Amino acid sequence: MKLCFPTSIVMVLLIHSLPCLHAGQATEDDVLIADFEGETYGDWVVTGDAFGPGPARGTLAGQMHVDGFFGTALVNSFFHGDGSVGTLTSPEFKIERRFISFLIGGGMDAEKTCVNLIIDGKTVRNATGPNDAAGGSEALLMTSWDVSQFVGQMAQMQIVDQATGGWGHINVDHILQTNQKPPQLRTDVERSFTISKRFLNLPIKNGAPRRKVTVLIDGVREVVNDIELADANPDWWAFMDVSAWTGRKLTVKVDRLLEDSQALQSITQTDSEVGGQSFYQEPLRAQFHFSSRRGWNNDPNGLVFFNGEYHLFYQHNPYGWSWGNMHWGHATSRDLAHWQEHGDTLAPDQFGPMFSGSAVVDWKNTSGLGTLEKPPLVLLYTAAGNPTVQALASGVDGRNFQKYESNPIVPQITGGNRDPKVIWHEPSGRWVMVLYVELPEKKHTVHFFTSANLKEWTLASIFEGGVDADKFLFECPDLFELLVDGDKAKAKWVLTAADGQYAVGTFDGTTFTAEATRLPGHRGRGFYAAQTFSDIPKSDGRRIQIGWLQTPTVGMPFNQAMTVPLELQLITTPDGPRLRTTPVRELKSLRSSSQTWTSLKLVPGGKNPIEGLGTELIEVQAEFRPGKNTVATFQIRGGLIQYDAAKQELDVNGHRVSVPLQDGKMDLTILCDRTCFEIFAGNGLVYVPMPFQPKADDVSLILNVSGDAVDFERLEVHSLKSAWNTPTP
Ligand code: FRU
Repeated sequence: MKLCFPTSIVMVLLIHSLPCLHAGQATEDDVLIADFEGETYGDWVVTGDAFGPGPARGTLAGQMHVDGFFGTALVNSFFHGDGSVGTLTSPEFKIERRFISFLIGGGMDAEKTCVNLIIDGKTVRNATGPNDAAGGSEALLMTSWDVSQFVGQMAQMQIVDQATGGWGHINVDHILQTNQKPPQLRTDVERSFTISKRFLNLPIKNGAPRRKVTVLIDGVREVVNDIELADANPDWWAFMDVSAWTGRKLTVKVDRLLEDSQALQSITQTDSEVGGQSFYQEPLRAQFHFSSRRGWNNDPNGLVFFNGEYHLFYQHNPYGWSWGNMHWGHATSRDLAHWQEHGDTLAPDQFGPMFSGSAVVDWKNTSGLGTLEKPPLVLLYTAAGNPTVQALASGVDGRNFQKYESNPIVPQITGGNRDPKVIWHEPSGRWVMVLYVELPEKKHTVHFFTSANLKEWTLASIFEGGVDADKFLFECPDLFELLVDGDKAKAKWVLTAADGQYAVGTFDGTTFTAEATRLPGHRGRGFYAAQTFSDIPKSDGRRIQIGWLQTPTVGMPFNQAMTVPLELQLITTPDGPRLRTTPVRELKSLRSSSQTWTSLKLVPGGKNPIEGLGTELIEVQAEFRPGKNTVATFQIRGGLIQYDAAKQELDVNGHRVSVPLQDGKMDLTILCDRTCFEIFAGNGLVYVPMPFQPKADDVSLILNVSGDAVDFERLEVHSLKSAWNTPTP
């Protein structure tokens, strides 16, 4: 089993590598057997190749993030992956203390992935890692043996990796003799509740070992999550809506807990979420970008307009600050500016965690999952177990969804198949599914399927996006038709990929033919996995996109956010039709006070014309004609946005992008929230999302000019209202 995250996720986890545990580190009276901090294993005897040339500096290639070890290195037998085997045996040592304690992780096989204490050629104690199924955790856990009966005898420690399949490796660190009994890990610890309130509140400590937490209803397993449970002093509380089980017996079972852990005792049942009174008021809560009340979000999923509401489902870990336990969270908006979160719609099941996907309204009830009067809203998603398959859920009220009883609807093609985007193709009168499929040797493709009923799918064509570094297309494809310059006679199809790159071409209902490919989408940072809304009424006719905006919010009970809703258009440029990205007009409803200039000449060294207008949430609109050497600088809450006319370049906090002047003119729209800038330049041809955290008390707003004078034909500064806890107008 290759245990790896999608690249986007690895990146985020590495940026926030977890702190080491320090409970259990040596005291003066302890005898250290090995800390594995050296370059080699010293006088330990190595057989086989699983243990590599010496202790590993943490995570090895292709492995999930390893944490919980002490110092900078550990024993990690994932060298050359799970397939390698070997043993690592200590020299003889005298048992001088009552306990031997160590950190252990990896596979759970008492014979093949284990640590043994050997006395007189016999194994007298044995321990394993915690993992025996896909998923799991690479965190090392403290364990110990009572060896008081052997004090005075000679012994050896042996670390064994004789397993080659999934979890065929063992990780060990910091082996110690001690007289202080380390807290023991208890296995399968439970607490039961009769459900009488809406929520169970779970204590979370970011970076704590991930425990496997199973919820059973009347003894039957309902859902399993990997949770960084707080043994004491939680960083925050996650809530689980248990109202569906009112009156029934709910058992929370934890695979491993320290004997003195308070985690289970501290779980409470309440009718409102613990900490809920401060939802959306947290210091790093973006105020007009969507983020989830609790936990982690990544991709937007299932964007669809239905019964007067825009639906935003999203990749959600309700029980952790980092990626994991993928659910589909759910929020709706009537105006694309104010969002209301409803809780999780899809939870992991026997097919695996709920990965990304899309939604459509089945107006003709082709699926038979609704009626013509009440057409079903159909969610199509990846269930990322082993195998990884495509599946469907549906509902008619926009709130309650049932998973289809005959899931999956598309069997696994390769393990790297995911993120179905489904559209109704009017000319052929069929559904089309665009699915990312990684073929062997890292060949990136999208497979096109067609269907009459959303349930049975036939492969129609394969679009090849290249190999590895040269790739176009990686995860989360989207496909849509756009008019060119709004001209009804001219339309093109656009195929987009997770990193924002896109192709423009034609699509005949089965095959996409690219006229231009690998066109750059956004030009900023932290934008990923965007998707556009399905079923926006023809009378509106807009194509609206939301992307995942990777804005880490350290210290908050939530993490990451979405971009503002973006309107996409195709406009003619000298190079051919290109995407134009602008914020949707609905965001104007968030403007509170505004100041506008229609003609303003600024000279180098002149006075800052927008002094004193700064607030926390800002929108700036500017259209200007720079001189040949003008550098126009907006300093917004300590962030720097600069246009250099000579270079025809925009600089956003040091990130430079080329933006050509058009007929000698430049235009900029700048949005500033608590965790980002979003900048739209050059008639929307350049979109620069940029994670950025202004200091809370810095509301400075400066416009200055150097080089040559500049004519502002229009300058607007708007202070914006928070979109949270204010009613939809
Ligand atoms: C993109 C992605 C998708 C996958 C999802 C899992 O960020 O890797 O390909 O479905 O995230 O959360």
